Amino acid sequence: MTDAVSYTLEGNLGVIRVNNPPVNALSHGVRSGMAEALTTAAEDTSEAVVILCEGRTFIAGADITEFGKPPKPPFLPDLLAQLDNHPKLTVAAIHGTALGGGFETALSCNYRVALASAKVGLPEVKLGLLPGAGGTQRTPRLAGIATAIDLMTSGNPIPAEAALQKGLIDHVARDNLAEEAIAYAKQLVADQAPKRQASAITLTLNESDRELISKARSNLAKKTRGESAPQRIIDCIEASAELDFDAGLKRERELFMACMEDPQSAALRHMFFAERAAAKIDSIDTSVEPAQVQRVGIIGAGTMGGGIAMCFAQAGIQVTLIDMSDEAVTAGISKIKANYDISVKRGRLSQDQVEAIMSQIKSSTHFEDLADADMVIEAVFENLAVKKEVFARLDTICKADAVLASNTSYQSIDDIAAATSRPESVLGMHFFSPANVMKLLEVVKGDKSSDRVIATAMAVGKRIGKTSVLSGMCYGFIGNRMLRPYAREAALCMMEGASPAQIDAAMEQWGMAMGPLAVGDLAGLDIGYKAREQLTDEQKGDPASYCVADRLVQAGRLGQKSGAGYYRYDPETRQRIADPDVDAIIDSCRQELGIAARAVSDEEIVDRLILALANEGARILEEGIAQRASDIDVVYCYGYGFPRHRGGPMHYVQARGLAWAVKRMTEFQQNLNQDNWSIAPLIANNAERGEAL
Ligand code: 3HC
Repeated sequence: MTDAVSYTLEGNLGVIRVNNPPVNALSHGVRSGMAEALTTAAEDTSEAVVILCEGRTFIAGADITEFGKPPKPPFLPDLLAQLDNHPKLTVAAIHGTALGGGFETALSCNYRVALASAKVGLPEVKLGLLPGAGGTQRTPRLAGIATAIDLMTSGNPIPAEAALQKGLIDHVARDNLAEEAIAYAKQLVADQAPKRQASAITLTLNESDRELISKARSNLAKKTRGESAPQRIIDCIEASAELDFDAGLKRERELFMACMEDPQSAALRHMFFAERAAAKIDSIDTSVEPAQVQRVGIIGAGTMGGGIAMCFAQAGIQVTLIDMSDEAVTAGISKIKANYDISVKRGRLSQDQVEAIMSQIKSSTHFEDLADADMVIEAVFENLAVKKEVFARLDTICKADAVLASNTSYQSIDDIAAATSRPESVLGMHFFSPANVMKLLEVVKGDKSSDRVIATAMAVGKRIGKTSVLSGMCYGFIGNRMLRPYAREAALCMMEGASPAQIDAAMEQWGMAMGPLAVGDLAGLDIGYKAREQLTDEQKGDPASYCVADRLVQAGRLGQKSGAGYYRYDPETRQRIADPDVDAIIDSCRQELGIAARAVSDEEIVDRLILALANEGARILEEGIAQRASDIDVVYCYGYGFPRHRGGPMHYVQARGLAWAVKRMTEFQQNLNQDNWSIAPLIANNAERGEAL
């Protein structure tokens, strides 16, 4: 048929084999090959057609790389109409993951067989899309409204056995999929089984279905705030019952095209490829083998060390958690247990699973117990002298090929490495708090870190379920370095007239998980205060950018932990409440610094904060600290609550136009502060040349 699709007549069966590595995506070659194979099968002596895939998976969806390019026929909906109306009985044989357009292909067959290890799903929502080849119409017809809502709005695949229970597949194969699917198809022919078509089912909504739909709408409005695809999916599900199949398909197509043209989908597709690109280190030869990591030592049993220990233990890696005293170690282990108790209570883990995880964690007060560790991660407090002392001791104890990592947020990896006789074994592994929850891991390359050590940290990150991004060495690495100008602009907007509540609401409305001042309260305002104490006035920068924060700390308002910071916090619900005392502090800072309050619009707040991020991001790129602009987007979406449907700060600015960014920053230069708004040459030059970042 084509290179990607073959067709053979085997006895009374026509067998279509798809072979389009790596994931059998429905590229043009697959669509045209399948269309041709179906035409042949319609006319030959076959009595049934089986669709099988080679390689690691059944079709994992439309080819995302073709999106945004001029479409080439045959189009997927037309191919699936051909499949649905095929004169022969059709059977899909599923292994690996049947996703998106791949699962829609299977749903257009009369019967579906899946290997027990297979999963099926409709993940389009994660790309800002909806299933656009009949999935929204066939799924509710086969499995009901509740399953259709879950499957399509979560985007999470379900195992074969669950799909069988829900009526989405018809048979689970235990061993050899090809053999069992062929035998199953032959049996269907022998039994003269009916040509079942999901499209022929008529669906009506009862009262409880209507309730489910309206509940889903309001839940999604909160959970996926600002995203259009989830609500459009619900529109399609409603259409599956209110319209006939063809009219439902037409509605699905209209809404699919609306999603496709929506900048949200472009942003989410950018994130899909950004996440995968981040795993690739351009400067390291693919022949460099990461070291095997079976035993990990963690130094510091505080919140961070404990969270990191949980990540490793959950991945089945043995952990030795070290602290100075028995009390500290016991407190650390108790905190981990308390976290797992909550997971058991919420039904996320069983008691047995928790016991298995806890059995991976040993504790000790002796560094000597790290002698056989393959990797050690230091998570003691942020003090260079203390960290250097820890690494000097590790140097005398750890085996020669151990990876020695620091979880520092700011300190120089090179200074830490210099405390050892093996700087090539040292690097940064910067986890984000809470470490057992946050997906981001910044792998920080010191001047002397070896390729093998970097490759090992990246591989370990993947194994423990993190999205890892490589960063070069600079103060704050990628993420925290960018946070400084972002926080500066938030503080300046406040001094110029916006209240903390306005700033946080503007940013949250725009899509940030939490506004910048609420984040400050959550992290603790004393952290920045203590860091500023070490700096000269010049290093601290404009007093307007920290005057209020300093005053709050001096008034004992450290943030959530002290019950008050930029807000007061309800002791029970932790709800933030605007506080007139804070307004008074802001007013007195304004008077002291001679700043007159003015109205600051939400639009100005958003533009200033996001452009401050992107401008610093561009400098980070210029300096080679980040490998690529999309890595910065991954850092912000996974570590700082940046909305994925905006695609990260670099994508957002790129998509709005670098010329817009230059124009807006020039206005800020003229109207606000010349120094704060010096435009990164990369943005200025690329805007002029019309090139991407
Ligand atoms: N189109 C194009 N390329 C794809 C792809 C797709 N649908 N799915 C994966 N790839 C590429 C990846 O970019 C990666 O390329 P790289 O090696 O150059 O970086 C390669 O295939 C392997 O992918 P992963 O690294 O993700 O491999 P895993 O084994 O970890 O995961 C997977 C496999 C579960 C299939 C995962 O790739 C995945 O979730 N893919 C996306 C599935 C999806 O979203 N499908 C729906 C598409 S939209 C659609 O179908 C619209 C329809 O309704 C009309």
